[in-house]
Amino acid sequence: MVQNMTYPIMTDEEAARLIKNNDTIGIGGFSSVGVPKVVPAALARYAIDEHEAGRAFQVGLVTGGATGPSIDTDLTLAHAVKFRTPFQSNKDMRGAINSGEVQYFDCHLSMIGQDVHYGFLGKINVAIVEASEILPDGNLILSTSVGITPTLLKMADYVIVELNSAHAGKLTGMHDIYVPEMPPYRKPFMITAPGDRIGTIYAEVDPKKVIAVVETNMSDRQAGFTPLNEETRAIGAHVSDFLVSELKRGGIPKEFLPLQSGVGNIANAVIGALGDNPDVPAFSMFTEVIQNSVIDLMLKGRCNYVTGSSLSLTDDALETMYANMDVFGQRVLLRSQEITNHPECIRRLGIIALNTALEADIFGNVNSTHVCGTKMMNGIGGSADFARNAFLSIFTTPSTAKGGAISSIVPMVTHTDSSEHSVRVLITEQGIADLRGKSPSQRARLIIENCAHPDYKQLLWDYLKLSEGKGFHTPHSLQNAFRMHLEFADSGDMRNTTFLK
Ligand code: COA
Repeated sequence: MVQNMTYPIMTDEEAARLIKNNDTIGIGGFSSVGVPKVVPAALARYAIDEHEAGRAFQVGLVTGGATGPSIDTDLTLAHAVKFRTPFQSNKDMRGAINSGEVQYFDCHLSMIGQDVHYGFLGKINVAIVEASEILPDGNLILSTSVGITPTLLKMADYVIVELNSAHAGKLTGMHDIYVPEMPPYRKPFMITAPGDRIGTIYAEVDPKKVIAVVETNMSDRQAGFTPLNEETRAIGAHVSDFLVSELKRGGIPKEFLPLQSGVGNIANAVIGALGDNPDVPAFSMFTEVIQNSVIDLMLKGRCNYVTGSSLSLTDDALETMYANMDVFGQRVLLRSQEITNHPECIRRLGIIALNTALEADIFGNVNSTHVCGTKMMNGIGGSADFARNAFLSIFTTPSTAKGGAISSIVPMVTHTDSSEHSVRVLITEQGIADLRGKSPSQRARLIIENCAHPDYKQLLWDYLKLSEGKGFHTPHSLQNAFRMHLEFADSGDMRNTTFLK
């Protein structure tokens, strides 16, 4: 299995002990797949031993995005993380971030590799990465994701490789690895169609840096999605109806445009709905995360081509892909997130971006990250990379959360991730608000009328009425702007809100 026996083979425990207190660790992989699994878990056990012996042991974690439980759960529960960036979607890590135990830097996913490259995050002492093969010259064929692994391999002082035989030989040729030069020497990325290749099939590593190879044979164990419900079905149907109407009126070129889809249950449902609508032409995707629904659509001939930074698939969907490489081999390409999310590529290709909001305000500003303005959910991810640069940027959200006690449409978002300048269309299960070319007052009317839940419409109209006519471009009543959130904190239900006159 190991083709270059010059790298030292170690157990996970031995490799973990090469890491020192206060090291900054770069974790390869992306969106909880293709990430190292056994060394971080062993590192957590090592940290517990060190703490029991009365010694301090904590590390900083720089990742591509979400990681697996052996990283975010095990290391968090071992109290071994002092710093984390740029995205997580893990209950334990979320708790540690919100309690203040872990300092969290939420960062656009297109920028984190570049931040490492620029030295903005200091030194990366050790990179731990997963590979599916080691080539005779020592370079690596990555596994089910790329993330910022190529940059970590370049910038880290030392590298530990988990060589995962579960994917051996299956993914060779499916990666396109390119690390942009440092400014002022950076060149344009010559990607004019989703399938254009600009790099190599392997990730380069200086063999002198590789201090350990740990052999594994483990699947990514990606969790499945919540089954579709009435709400997610309605959101998906509105998105596909909107795109079909744009196509028919010439607002989208007749060739259609590549799609990007965000993460989570709603995003998965939306892509499924687009595939099921016969009026949406078979499409390609230039996206960050390739979720299960894309694999079904490729088999049905509804998605022609997909490029992304990870195959974020359940085990059965990955097995389906491996069993049908005649369909997938030439139509799936994995790149680093610095390329999949790069403003240059997104703007040039004219991506239709589909992302999810936690809440949106009546003027079209979107909060994707902070529950009630203070508690971190996951992170901004790539949502704003795509939203800001897309041909058409659509945000979706159910109109309510927590059984209706929260309206996802509010007078003012408690945190802004994508601003009114990036959000072109807002869609809930209630309907569609096309915000292009509209003033704040016009946007507010459309959003309240088309997107708000009936339980909250009157409340939002009342807010707008209170705020309008005072000679402002964006009609807000600052004393009432967060009244709905304050009411939720007090009584547990935004429907009880009364505004101050
Ligand atoms: N206030 C408080 N909580 C809210 C809320 C609001 N306005 N809206 C949703 N929630 C809660 C839900 O109740 C749910 O809580 P639970 O886990 O306790 O049940 C949770 O947030 C997730 O909501 P869900 O409706 O299941 O959404 P999702 O799985 O589709 O995820 C995001 C939605 C916004 C969290 C997710 O898309 C995300 O992290 N986005 C940012 C990153 C991103 O977009 N990346 C992709 C770019 S390529």
